[in-house]
Amino acid sequence: MSERYIGLMSGTSLDGVDGVLADFSDGLRVLGHASAPFDPRLKSELLALNQSGPDEIHRAQLAGNALMKVYAGVVHQLLATSGVALADVRAIGAHGQTVRHRPQEFDGPGYTVQLCQPALLAELTGIDVVADFRSRDVAAGGQGAPLAPFFHRALFGRAGETIGVLNIGGISNLSLLRADGSMLGFDCGPGNGLMDAWCQRHLGRPYDAEGAWAAGAVPDQKLLQTLLAEPFFAKAPPKSTGRDLFNEPWLQQRLAKFASLPPQQVQATLAELTARACSDNVMRHEPKLARLIVCGGGALNTHLMRRLQALLPGTQVVSSADAGLPPLQVEAAAFAWLARKAVRREPLDLKSTTGARGARVLGGIWPA
Ligand SMILES: Nc1ncnc2c1ncn2[C@@H]1O[C@H](COP(=O)(O)OP(=O)(O)OP(=O)(O)O)[C@@H](O)[C@H]1O
Ligand SMILES: [Mg+2]
Repeated sequence: MSERYIGLMSGTSLDGVDGVLADFSDGLRVLGHASAPFDPRLKSELLALNQSGPDEIHRAQLAGNALMKVYAGVVHQLLATSGVALADVRAIGAHGQTVRHRPQEFDGPGYTVQLCQPALLAELTGIDVVADFRSRDVAAGGQGAPLAPFFHRALFGRAGETIGVLNIGGISNLSLLRADGSMLGFDCGPGNGLMDAWCQRHLGRPYDAEGAWAAGAVPDQKLLQTLLAEPFFAKAPPKSTGRDLFNEPWLQQRLAKFASLPPQQVQATLAELTARACSDNVMRHEPKLARLIVCGGGALNTHLMRRLQALLPGTQVVSSADAGLPPLQVEAAAFAWLARKAVRREPLDLKSTTGARGARVLGGIWPA
């Protein structure tokens, strides 16, 4: 049986889709990486579907179909550039697009929603598709997120060493892989999401490249304290979050009393918020951490990386590129790895990350 899997990830940043073709026959070998941006119409529709709106069931289905066409495009790109034959790919792990994340609310389990049409993706690619990774975890009483810590351990974990892996996507999540083999994983809070939104609004650009805009101003300490007062930050793990909480209205409400702050200073404060959301958690849970590996698009934000290093003077803060896998490939590779787990019916012990009752096989399979 082939050990080649494709992972497709489109996260809360809504920047597009990252795909990785990976071979797991001897550890992890990445055979190809491809990405595709969302066209502005799909991006704004996916963003709109994060909130209630007219005819949203209909719109969600069509957005899911449109998303699968982008996913299939990435799959075809991966096959073409790597020279791997379609029949040689065991399965695709497709995350889908999170539009609501409300676990452990309302009726007990609550829910998490990733727009995805695995049947359509199987038709468009002719490859088995594994999808819907989060719902079983939520059904078992978990947060449904983060799931990547298991992959972080498989990829970066070293026996007898405690390390941290920090993924800075739209939201940030931290995996603490401990020397004794135990692990703790949870969402820290905002990643790039708030910075992206503010940059789009004031500079008309989707993100602050290298964090250069933020780096040109000093964070406002009062605003920073106001933002850090959000109760999510003080909550003990397991915990996860999304655009349901850290969205533009959340920011606008808190900015009401800071109307005179220049936009650039707000950006500097938002960068500091992301850095603090992450570094405070390292200090709280693993203050003597020797090494923190950073992945996700946030690792490309030079200013943010500098702030993390300054806030964690005793920790060596490095990009995942220095640990063997470029930042934008890690989460996509995680879903290739998770697809393999599902195909092999291997359960993951979720208690220490999502808080689910026990070990479960995550994801459903849609055969080609
Ligand atoms: N050169 C760069 N400088 C600064 N920020 C960057 C750069 N490149 C990417 N980014 C940031 O990374 C974001 C994309 O990161 P990523 O794809 O990891 O997030 P995501 O799609 O939300 O993923 P996930 O949910 O899997 O963590 C962009 O929206 C942007 O904010
Ligand atoms: Mg992305």
